Amino acid sequence: MTGPSLAALGGPFLAGRVATISGAARGIGLATARSLAAAGADLVLIDRDAASLDAAVAQVRADTGRDALGIALDVREEAAVADAAARAVDRFGAVHILVNNAGTAIRKPVIEFTLDEWRRVMDVNLTGAFLMCRHFVPPMRAAGWGRVIGVASVMGHVSSAGRGVYSATKHALLGLTKALAAELADDGITCTCVSPGFIATDFTAPLQASAAFQAELQANALLKRWGSADEIAQLITYLCSDAAAFITGSDVLIDGGWAAH
Ligand code: NAI
Repeated sequence: MTGPSLAALGGPFLAGRVATISGAARGIGLATARSLAAAGADLVLIDRDAASLDAAVAQVRADTGRDALGIALDVREEAAVADAAARAVDRFGAVHILVNNAGTAIRKPVIEFTLDEWRRVMDVNLTGAFLMCRHFVPPMRAAGWGRVIGVASVMGHVSSAGRGVYSATKHALLGLTKALAAELADDGITCTCVSPGFIATDFTAPLQASAAFQAELQANALLKRWGSADEIAQLITYLCSDAAAFITGSDVLIDGGWAAH
């Protein structure tokens, strides 16, 4: 072993780390915030939904006792992202972990997209991740230790009718992550993605209510069930730990076996 074993980590193994999570007001982002805080990290929570973000910050603080700074912003706005990075360093002295989780989707055939719709999905899922990296990686470099984790998707590995533009952004996030891993390896920063299958959150509420989609799930997910936000959060927390120090430039599918066949 060159790093600590997972069993040896125990306790608050992220104590002293500061983690920034985008799209943290609900779903996978909120579950990740709880999980990282439970492992000892302090948090910078970002979301464009200010009211839900306030509630999330209060909830995480009360449940975990960790410090959490909430910053309401849209990840497409560079000036706001730059200001958030400065506020994070001002408050905590450093940033060590960035989880690029904010995402959106419009479901329809590619050639029916308007240019505005195309740009909206690209800008949130891809440009937003780029802007967050652009402003949150420099403090990680200064700290000499970091984790950049992209929340991609099983649709970054496969695709299907009606999911083309979303799928293109997630394929692109995997490519961006490989290049970042190469550029940041000498700075002690690892860069990875997680690729969830279908997870029961607000994002998938219409699918959860659709009999046609339930049939698609049964046919495609080997485990024949929805994943939970907590399952994704636990994987992200592992990737943030020192036990995952040898993982970079890669992606972990966590999809109930959707892409395996
Ligand atoms: P969600 O819709 O429950 O939560 C997403 C959060 O991101 C919301 O609080 C929303 O306000 C925020 N957000 C959206 N656009 C933003 C922007 N421009 N700036 C700042 N905040 C913004 O979604 P969920 O399910 O938690 O998904 C999180 C990530 O996981 C997304 O990137 C999604 O593509 C990805 N994912 C989700 C899957 C699922 O089945 N739920 C499957 C695979 C990937």
